[in-house]
Amino acid sequence: MIVGLDNTSFEVNFAQFVNRRFCVAVGSGTSALYLALRALNVSRHCEVIVPAISWISTATAVLACGATPVYVDVLEDGNINPQAIKAAIGPRTAAVVGVNYFGQLAPWAEILEVCQSFSVPVIEDAAQSAGALLEGQRSGSFGDISTFSFNPMKVLAATGEAGAVLCDDEAIANRIRSLRYLGSSDMIESREPDLNHKVDLLQAKILDFQLELLPQKVDRRQQIAQRYRSMLETTPIDASARPLTSSSFFDFPIRTNHSHILVEYLSRQGIDARKRPSLTLTDQPALNPIGKREFPVAQAIARDTVCLPMFSSLRDEEIEAVGQHVVEFFKNVTK
Ligand SMILES: Cc1ncc(COP(=O)(O)O)c(C=O)c1O
Repeated sequence: MIVGLDNTSFEVNFAQFVNRRFCVAVGSGTSALYLALRALNVSRHCEVIVPAISWISTATAVLACGATPVYVDVLEDGNINPQAIKAAIGPRTAAVVGVNYFGQLAPWAEILEVCQSFSVPVIEDAAQSAGALLEGQRSGSFGDISTFSFNPMKVLAATGEAGAVLCDDEAIANRIRSLRYLGSSDMIESREPDLNHKVDLLQAKILDFQLELLPQKVDRRQQIAQRYRSMLETTPIDASARPLTSSSFFDFPIRTNHSHILVEYLSRQGIDARKRPSLTLTDQPALNPIGKREFPVAQAIARDTVCLPMFSSLRDEEIEAVGQHVVEFFKNVTK
């Protein structure tokens, strides 16, 4: 054991919050994904099924293990399509990574049904979804292994880099603890070489404090989302599909084929809306050198999505101003 690193108060409290047996805090969400894949023995000659749209890490973690990412298209909300997973599973599939994209929980019942029927393990990339709930079950409790990022942009945020891997299997948790620091669980002998993925203990302390504030931060984001949804009812935007609690609202994405001019218009009003994501993983040559390039839903999301400002510290008058400007924009654009 590395003195002081195992079973920190944050690890114990976060495992309890998510309702998992084990939490291993690590240096970043990217390290968390990589270590989860390593613990599933993902290596050269393996394929890992991942969504065509996500943050870059979802793909680079697979590539860093020497494995091949097999991209599949997503549903209209940006989450991996369970039927596309089914079609992509083959003899070399070593794992599937599902991402709770924009903070919205993926269709876990269907994903797990497909993967269990092929005995393929599932990693839940919950980097964006801390605090979200689906029928009483917390984000991070769905995959065989789940991973989080706590970088300062996240809903549960440290002041620097941090992440975590959670699971219920003691052998996997112990392996990740060992891989977290040079493949050595006693700081003497390295049993399987790896790099330094340790969490900064100061960040773990900060996260322990931030965890207490998480439910109220997520509540506030859900209130903001509710207000945006009702203000957007008079526009062509359909932003109200899923139950509020099933998202942490890391982002509040809306889709329009006027995305570029909407961002420019809002920027002129002093509103920091973002054209995000702007590229699918499959349209990045470094991440998809020779693979299939047609992923119509993911590509439409990358082309049409604008994320409205979403912070728990947004004031009511700021939320109203954003909503009114978006409504105004669509009045003008549809004239
Ligand atoms: C979906 C997703 N996966 C993984 C990561 C990687 O996390 P980190 O930046 O902590 O390495 C992020 C963070 O940006 C993310 O959004």
